[in-house]
Amino acid sequence: MLLLVACLLVASTYMHTVEACCCMPEKFELHEYVEDVFTWPFASIQTGYANISFDLKVKKSVFFFYDVKKNGKDVPTPTYLFDHSSGFLYVYDLRSKYCKKLPTGKMSPVCVPAYKSTYITDLGAAKDMISVKIYQSTSGNQTTITTVTKEKCYLISSELYDSEYPTSLRTQFYGTTLGIKDPSVFKIPAICKKIFWNTQEIPEVHRRGFHPFYL
Ligand SMILES: *[C@@H]1O[C@H](CO)[C@@H](O)[C@H](O)[C@H]1NC(C)=O
Ligand SMILES: *[C@@H]1O[C@H](CO)[C@@H](O)[C@H](O)[C@H]1NC(C)=O
Repeated sequence: MLLLVACLLVASTYMHTVEACCCMPEKFELHEYVEDVFTWPFASIQTGYANISFDLKVKKSVFFFYDVKKNGKDVPTPTYLFDHSSGFLYVYDLRSKYCKKLPTGKMSPVCVPAYKSTYITDLGAAKDMISVKIYQSTSGNQTTITTVTKEKCYLISSELYDSEYPTSLRTQFYGTTLGIKDPSVFKIPAICKKIFWNTQEIPEVHRRGFHPFYL
């Protein structure tokens, strides 16, 4: 479900310049806004926010979703806490006292996806300007465009378009900070300590829009 795309370099030949792969730092926190528009099998729009803490050193990450709406209606969305150090994912909602524990795989860094082309441009103007690098890739009918800061590869936005089922997924990243302010964000909640395996179903099928870092 969570797609952290590892850096894949476009095959290099003597003809091409190999561009350095680009990843977020090992420890960071950020917010994201996601907007997912579907036209098939029926028209719908899903929007939502997430607060994300990510720490490759301790092998933990947490995705707290809020204000998630589908066609304007609230969609209660659980928190996803990945503890790759013990190999488990906890999906929980404190209000409905719900927790599900699932096995999870290896933790990957957050990197731009394999890309075909890049270009550099500026956002803003004059002294209030940053240089950004835009990575573009196409796979089948899907085009992904990822914008990061040029120097450090900090995520700014990502967009995915599908030409077959006109649809789009857009993510804005903001409020990024380095390091983890409060390590207790990774604490496994008490309700997750007395749960039974696979006795509870995850209430909502999480579609691609709410896969953080689906770049
Ligand atoms: C999530 O971030 C928002 C700010 O964008 C903040 O108001 C809220 O308290 C945060 N919630 C959690 C659980 O971190
Ligand atoms: C791309 O879209 C066309 C129809 O527009 C479809 O026939 C084809 O299978 C799609 N390709 C992939 C890789 O999904």
